[in-house]
Amino acid sequence: MKRDKFTSRARSEGYKARSVFKLKNINNRFRLIKEGNRILDLGAWPGSWSQYCLELKTNVDAVDLVKIKLEGINFIKEDVFSDKLFEKLDKYDVVLSDLAPKTVGIRKIDNEDSFELSMRALEITKKVLVKNGNFVCKIFQSEFFDPFVKEAKKVFRTVKVIKPEASRKRSKEVYVIGIAKRINI
Ligand SMILES: C[S@@+](CC[C@H](N)C(=O)[O-])C[C@H]1O[C@@H](n2cnc3c(N)ncnc32)[C@H](O)[C@@H]1O
Repeated sequence: MKRDKFTSRARSEGYKARSVFKLKNINNRFRLIKEGNRILDLGAWPGSWSQYCLELKTNVDAVDLVKIKLEGINFIKEDVFSDKLFEKLDKYDVVLSDLAPKTVGIRKIDNEDSFELSMRALEITKKVLVKNGNFVCKIFQSEFFDPFVKEAKKVFRTVKVIKPEASRKRSKEVYVIGIAKRINI
């Protein structure tokens, strides 16, 4: 199969995954991540989003079930559904979630799994994100998409939805961007 341009670029620029270009696209557009920020990267393996955050001179806590080999981050090996995770977390200026389920090919199950991961990311975000902090969250477009956006609007002053150029056309994923967390939620 022909390798696409983002896979080739990721390889030549030393990134662990092509997904880095999705976050770069989002951040170039919305300027969510600033130097010195504390970042929580949920579903971070193999680590390209964390790599980009390090380039932006931020402090990164990265959570995944799979170990990430990347110097300069604080890696937390944990299931996001485990409440033990909170013992290992701090307060953050930005929460990123590229959490993705292991798809089984049955649309209803895959959509539901993606929704549950995104809702969990939002639940974690409510607890650990500072006032006015920002959020980026992958979700599959499905019947669960509108309920998720509705929940996100309760937490953030502004909510945007974007499908970055590097996101494959055949993929149902989109990214929900939460800008400026409200105080009272
Ligand atoms: C699309 S990948 C993330 C790619 C990453 N953003 C990058 O740029 O390298 C999604 C990740 O979510 C992780 N994941 C899925 N379910 C999880 C869970 N319950 N707890 C922690 N991580 C999970 C998977 O292990 C996988 O590594």
